Amino acid sequence: MEHKRLIIAVDGYSSTGKSTVSKRLAARLGYTYIDTGAMYRMVTYRVMRDGILRDGQVDDDRLKRLLAGMTFDFRYNALTGCHDAYLDGKNVEEEIRGLAVSNQVSLIASLPRVREVLVAKQREMGREGGVVMDGRDIGSVVFPRAGVKFFMTASPETRARRRHEEMMGKGETVTYEEVEANVRQRDYTDAHRAASPLVKTADAIEIDTSRMTIEEEVEQMLAVIHARHARGN
Ligand code: DC
Repeated sequence: MEHKRLIIAVDGYSSTGKSTVSKRLAARLGYTYIDTGAMYRMVTYRVMRDGILRDGQVDDDRLKRLLAGMTFDFRYNALTGCHDAYLDGKNVEEEIRGLAVSNQVSLIASLPRVREVLVAKQREMGREGGVVMDGRDIGSVVFPRAGVKFFMTASPETRARRRHEEMMGKGETVTYEEVEANVRQRDYTDAHRAASPLVKTADAIEIDTSRMTIEEEVEQMLAVIHARHARGN
């Protein structure tokens, strides 16, 4: 039987492995994966590169003009088997994942003007269903009526360790302490900002990733989705 192609929201704290499980989940379902964090990172990268952010202050007029002209897309990379982030037609994967952007992205993501533009683009991208979208506000703001909502958690230490290993693997010289400080600071800013703070909605299913393998997480999530389908959704 053909099932309805759902919108699957995957929200949670940084470095809970959201993007890894979301990608695998999307592949298993034949859905499109959309990394909304990469979109906030792309805006941050451009804001920094263009000198729109100075001493923690953003030039609002220039930001407005910048947002109006930006294009975002994700293209398949046959070498890695992943979708890379493209900003205005240029691959910016490397630039947006480093510590420089990571340290400023929460600030940029807290600006209502930025959220308004990106949420509209995300709604457009998910309109037809058949998407796994990962972020912080997908189930609460972008798609409050998403077919299935997951909320991913893990302790700050587990998340900092994972992120540190990932960054070292990419050849970045960064200490565990720096990464843990960044993770804790982003948790705080993401959960306490006025515009769309990170919250677990009442209908979201919590997945604690501290003691599960990625495969176990994916299987648990698929079981939830299949149960929804069996109920006729
Ligand atoms: O998932 P990530 O770590 O790449 O996200 C980068 C930042 O963007 C994170 O600090 C929070 C913010 N973000 C957000 O505010 N809303 C989203 N839907 C996705 C990410």
